[in-house]
Amino acid sequence: MHTPEVINEVMHRRRSIYPYQYEPGASVDDGIVRQILENANTAPNHKKTMPWRFTVFNGDGRKKFAELQSSLYIKHHGTQNQVKIKKLEDYPLMASHIIAIGLKRHADRLPEIEEVLAVGCAIQNMFLTATAYNLGCYLSTGGVTYIDEAKAYFHLEPEDKLIGFFYIGKIKDAPKEMLRTPVDEKITFIS
Ligand SMILES: Cc1cc2nc3c(=O)[nH]c(=O)nc-3n(C[C@H](O)[C@H](O)[C@H](O)COP(=O)(O)O)c2cc1C
Repeated sequence: MHTPEVINEVMHRRRSIYPYQYEPGASVDDGIVRQILENANTAPNHKKTMPWRFTVFNGDGRKKFAELQSSLYIKHHGTQNQVKIKKLEDYPLMASHIIAIGLKRHADRLPEIEEVLAVGCAIQNMFLTATAYNLGCYLSTGGVTYIDEAKAYFHLEPEDKLIGFFYIGKIKDAPKEMLRTPVDEKITFIS
């Protein structure tokens, strides 16, 4: 089908769906995850720098990711926030796949904002592809996202950015309604 209605429907159905809303123990086909990343790779990007980088955790890799993020978090922020630490340990195991999203900088060629925008476009492609496959997903920028030391674990250099973590799972609970104020409030037409 090549109709605008298809893309309109997918965009309006897209939601952030969190790991506690995923079917426990249900894994998503690696082929679908690969398609999600193929579609991310088609995102627009200035000067063809293709700055997006992905580290995919599935199966037992999720445990390694959970241990990594909780221990790094504790090293930098201590053990006061037990609720947050428990979430860092539990969420990866509630998901099927977690994709660490990195930004490979090309500082000699582009301002940072342009590469951040390109990775943002790639992430939206991931959201829409996951939605089209009726999967739950969300982007987390919590945990260790802004701890510089974390970059090395995701094959990133100090000048690169860690953007966040994209969680994917099969949907158990229906997503919430979309909360948006009318687009008309955000448009100025000059005719
Ligand atoms: C850049 C970015 C970072 C986000 N980080 C988090 C996060 O760390 N934790 C979280 O619960 N949600 C996070 N979200 C999800 C937003 O809270 C969510 O998109 C918002 O509530 C709108 O809901 P919707 O995506 O279902 O439309 C993030 C979203 C974006 C775009």
